[in-house]
Amino acid sequence: MADLTASHPDSAADDAQTDDAAPKATPALRSTAWFGTADKNGFMYRSWMKNQGIPNHEFDGRPIIGICNTWSELTPCNAHFRKLAEHVKRGVYEAGGFPVEFPVFSNGESNLRPTAMLTRNLAAMDVEEAIRGNPIDAVVLLAGCDKTTPALLMGAASCDVPAILVSGGPMLNGKLDGKDIGSGTAVWQLHESLKAGDIDLHQFLSAEAGMSRSAGTCNTMGTASTMACMAEALGVSLPHNAAIPAVDARRYVLAHMSGIRIVEMARQGLSLSKVLTREAFENAIRTNAAIGGSTNAVIHLKAIAGRIGVPLELEDWTAVGRDTPTIVDLMPSGRFLMEEFYYAGGLPAVLRRLGEAGRLPHPQALTVNGKALWDNVKDAPLYNDEVIRPLDKPLLPDGSIRILRGNLAPRGAVLKPSAATPRLLRHRGRAVVFENLEHYKARIVDESLDVDEDSVLVLKHCGPRGYPGMAEVGNMGLPPKLLRRGVKDMVRISDARMSGTAYGTVVLHVAPEAAAGGPLAIVRDGDWIELDCETGRLHLDIGDAEYAHRMAGIKPQQAPAEGGYRKLYVDHVLQADEGCDLDFLVGCRGHAVPRHSH
Ligand code: FES
Repeated sequence: MADLTASHPDSAADDAQTDDAAPKATPALRSTAWFGTADKNGFMYRSWMKNQGIPNHEFDGRPIIGICNTWSELTPCNAHFRKLAEHVKRGVYEAGGFPVEFPVFSNGESNLRPTAMLTRNLAAMDVEEAIRGNPIDAVVLLAGCDKTTPALLMGAASCDVPAILVSGGPMLNGKLDGKDIGSGTAVWQLHESLKAGDIDLHQFLSAEAGMSRSAGTCNTMGTASTMACMAEALGVSLPHNAAIPAVDARRYVLAHMSGIRIVEMARQGLSLSKVLTREAFENAIRTNAAIGGSTNAVIHLKAIAGRIGVPLELEDWTAVGRDTPTIVDLMPSGRFLMEEFYYAGGLPAVLRRLGEAGRLPHPQALTVNGKALWDNVKDAPLYNDEVIRPLDKPLLPDGSIRILRGNLAPRGAVLKPSAATPRLLRHRGRAVVFENLEHYKARIVDESLDVDEDSVLVLKHCGPRGYPGMAEVGNMGLPPKLLRRGVKDMVRISDARMSGTAYGTVVLHVAPEAAAGGPLAIVRDGDWIELDCETGRLHLDIGDAEYAHRMAGIKPQQAPAEGGYRKLYVDHVLQADEGCDLDFLVGCRGHAVPRHSH
C-alpha cells in the first residue's frame, strides 16, 4: 500500500516505516540489490533517489525501468525525445513500474564529424555500462538517427536485459515547389543538378527548410528508417514502430504502450536473447530486401548479432535475402516517403505480404509483445498497392543486398542493386584512382582528368581504420564534366560506406580496407576492374604475378590517431565484414549485478 506520508517535509514517518522492514521486493529483479535491503547500503541508494521527490512506496519492489534517451539538440532527428520519454513514463507508471530516464551519447548523423559511425561503438559502450551499473530491471531504448538504433541495441544486447526499442519516427514529407522531396536523397539530386548547371545556388539553398519541416528522422528509406524496420522485423519493438511519423499522436501512443509492455517484460524476465535469435536476424535480412533497405544494415546487424552471440555471416545476406522482391516503393530506390509508407500499412503490411507468400523465414519468431511475429501481422491492413506493392508487381524482382568477393575484396564487399543502374551491374572498366578523400576532392574537378562514363572510380582509405570511422562517401560524386554531359551513374568502388538515402552503382565496404593492407591499396590508374553482381565477383584484372608483386609491397597506412577515443577505435575496430565493432566489445557480458563500493 502506498505510503502517503513519505511526501511530508518531516520525514520521520517515512523513516519509521523503512525501519520496519525492507521494501517488499521481487527477488528476481536486479534492482532489489540496490533498493531491497534495510541496511546502510539500501538507505544510501534510496535516500539519494528521494532527492528527486520519489515517495517511499516506489521502492516497494516494483520493476525499475530505464528509459535510455539519445535526446540531443545536436541530433536534430532525436530532438523531440524528451516528450517521447514522458509518454513512455506514463505507460510505465500505469503498469506499476518505476521509470528512470537517463542520457547516453547521442550520435547525430548530420552534425557529427568526422562521421557518426566513429562513435557508434562509444555510444554502445555507454549504454552497456549505464544499464549494468545501475538499478535497472528492463530498459526502453529511445533511438532515431542512424547510429543510435544499432548503438542502443548493441549495448543492451551485451547486458541481455529485457528491452524494447522505440524509434523517434520519420519526418513528414519534404516539400519543394509543390513536389515531395526526400531527406538526403534530395541533397544528392539537387547538388548534382547544381554541379551540372541545371539549377542555381539560390534554388539549391531554398530547398533546405522544405526538406526538413518537422521533427523526426530522414523520411526516405535511409539508414534510420531501415534500422527502425530492422528493429520491428527483429521483434524488438512493437508493431508499427518503424513508420508512424514522429509528429503523429500515434507515435506517442506507441511510446506509452511500450512503457506498459516493458513492465510486463521485466516481470516475465523476457530478455533480449529470447527475441534476438538467429531466426529473428533471418527475418530481418529478408525484410531488408523487401523494403529496399540500406547497406548499412549489413554492418549494424552483424554488430548486434555479435553482441548477443548469434552467428551471422556476409553470405547469409545472399542465402536468406536472394530473390526477395523489393515491394516497398520508397526513395531512394522508388517514389514515395515514410509518411505514405505508414498510411499504406507500414511494416506489418510488408511482413504480411511476405508471410502470405511463404517468404517470411520464421513467422513464429518471438517478439517483445510476447507474440509470434506472424500473430502480430497476419491481419495487418494494407491500404495502398502503389506504396507496398504485390509480390508479383515489385519495384525490383530481387532487392537483396549483393555480397561480392574476388581478388579485390577477399573478405567481401556489398552493393545495393535496387539503388544501382541495371546495365552497370555487369561491367568492365578502367580504374580512376583516388588515394583518399582529399585526393578525390582535388582531382574530381580537374577538367583534364582522364575519365569517361565507362571508367570505374576507386576511392581508398575511407574504411573503419583509414578514415577513421568509415565515412559515408562511397557514393562519391561524378566528375562535373561528365555530369554536364548527362552522365547519371558510374561504377564506384571503395572501402567506405554509403548513406542509406544515396543511390548509384556503388561497391561498398571492401574488406580488408586499404589501410589494413587490403588489395584496394594496390589499384592504379588504368587497371581493368570487372564487376559481376550476378556471380558476386569483383576482380582486379592485372594478372597473378603483378597482383602478387604489388601486394608484397603494400605498406598499410592508417590515419594517425593522436590519442583519446580515436586511438582506442583505430587500434581495436574490426573490419566491415565483422560489423566494425571494437574487438573487445563483441559478445554478451550479461547483467550480473556489480558489487557495490560503499
Ligand atoms: Fe538523422 Fe538521417 S540524419 S536520420
